[in-house]
Amino acid sequence: KDGFNLVVVANRLPVDMSITEDGTVDWQRSPGGLVTALEPVMQGADGAWVGWSGAPDLTADPFDVDGMRLVPVSLNQTEIERYYEGFSNDTLWPLYHDVIAPPAFHRQWWDSYRKVNQRFAEAAASQAAHGAIVWVQDYQLQLVPKLLRNLRPDLRIGFFNHIPFPPLEIFQQLPWRRQVLEGLLGADLIGFQRGGDASNFVRAVRRLTDLTTRGQHVMIEATDDAPARTVRAAPFPISIDSHHFDELARSPQVQARAREIRTDLGDPEIVMLGVDRLDYTKGIRHRIKAYGELLQDGRLDPAKCTLVQVASPSRENVGAYQELRDHVETLVGRINGEYGEIGHSAIHYLHHSYPPEEMAALYLAADVMLVTSLRDGMNLVAKEYVAARSDTAGVLVLSEFTGAADELAGAIMVNPHDIDGMKDAIYRAATMDSREQRKRMRRLRRKVLTDDVAKWSASFLTTLGGIPDPAHSPA
Ligand code: G6P
Repeated sequence: KDGFNLVVVANRLPVDMSITEDGTVDWQRSPGGLVTALEPVMQGADGAWVGWSGAPDLTADPFDVDGMRLVPVSLNQTEIERYYEGFSNDTLWPLYHDVIAPPAFHRQWWDSYRKVNQRFAEAAASQAAHGAIVWVQDYQLQLVPKLLRNLRPDLRIGFFNHIPFPPLEIFQQLPWRRQVLEGLLGADLIGFQRGGDASNFVRAVRRLTDLTTRGQHVMIEATDDAPARTVRAAPFPISIDSHHFDELARSPQVQARAREIRTDLGDPEIVMLGVDRLDYTKGIRHRIKAYGELLQDGRLDPAKCTLVQVASPSRENVGAYQELRDHVETLVGRINGEYGEIGHSAIHYLHHSYPPEEMAALYLAADVMLVTSLRDGMNLVAKEYVAARSDTAGVLVLSEFTGAADELAGAIMVNPHDIDGMKDAIYRAATMDSREQRKRMRRLRRKVLTDDVAKWSASFLTTLGGIPDPAHSPA
């Protein structure tokens, strides 16, 4: 056998790895969205997954987990600082999210990004069978398509960007903008969350390179070593394993836990919920400010409602995340000091992450779900909330600046910068009658349960000309 027919390349492996005391490698499944999306396709297609272990200097041989070959890529401490925390999360992340935080441009970070992308490309090249499909994921690996094509012109290469692609006027700040575009254009198909992201990309190509574009296609001319080809950019909005989440939330244990959560919160009339990585793109401060003002104005009674804010720790070595944590925690402290009582907090702030069972129980316990991102590629929390609500109760308040807003028309849409508008929306959600809740939730559920993540990956891979659409192949 000369290699794998489907190779996924992502910054992280779908496991958390560590070295045990006796020096052997230990790993645990980390059930991220992408893993659940790709696992069935990988198992059916003889797949390998290339990614970083998540720890410094952890080198290990490829190993098999649940029918997938996992191929660890090692990063040293300096590379973690420059490629991951630096260029990926302190340059590209803020740049691609509307410069909500100022992006930092450092040439050493860029050098590290290039070198690490080369290492991922080499690892992928070593695993792929002749003519295989390689699917590269996200902004950390934008140079891999071109680097991989140089090594292995026989491969079919796809790329999916999970975060927004910014407008030209912002993208062009990047000193290495041409290299990034050329890196991506090594792919045959480049997927984005929304149509707007794909158009931003094509416009950047048109303005910053000499290449010809036709609609969403970019023409690459033949060279001495390679024939002419066409690169296609298109939207493929990602989703979740909706049916799995629906089932999880129907289980008696989860339902009992949801009742227990409400009791532990002191049986308030209204439970509101925010669930985010603690990230400045999520609009957590805007949301808490709006909620605090509703208490201050007396439109919401602090004795009758509570906000649960789950803020899972994220990228804690990056300065902007440390500052955000301080701001959020100050704000929460101030509001709790003002409106809390003995035995009752206005805000329950949880700086932890939780397993899916607990998340499903929290969604079931929440009358109002607040998703108020300032910019967000998709936002899967919004979809999880909907999938959990088979009782068709609950109201989703959703920022217009999420990819999900393109799809979830049953939500109450908000502009998180407009605090008064957001207060009205939260108040409306908190006081919505059950008939309207049901009507909206049914509409949301039809969308989320139909367009699940299996459909997302199948549609990308089918478009890429890879494996046949499993929905249409005989069982
Ligand atoms: C976003 C990105 C992913 C990333 C995740 C968690 O969803 O699109 O690529 O894996 O955040 O961030 P982390 O830096 O912990 O991998």
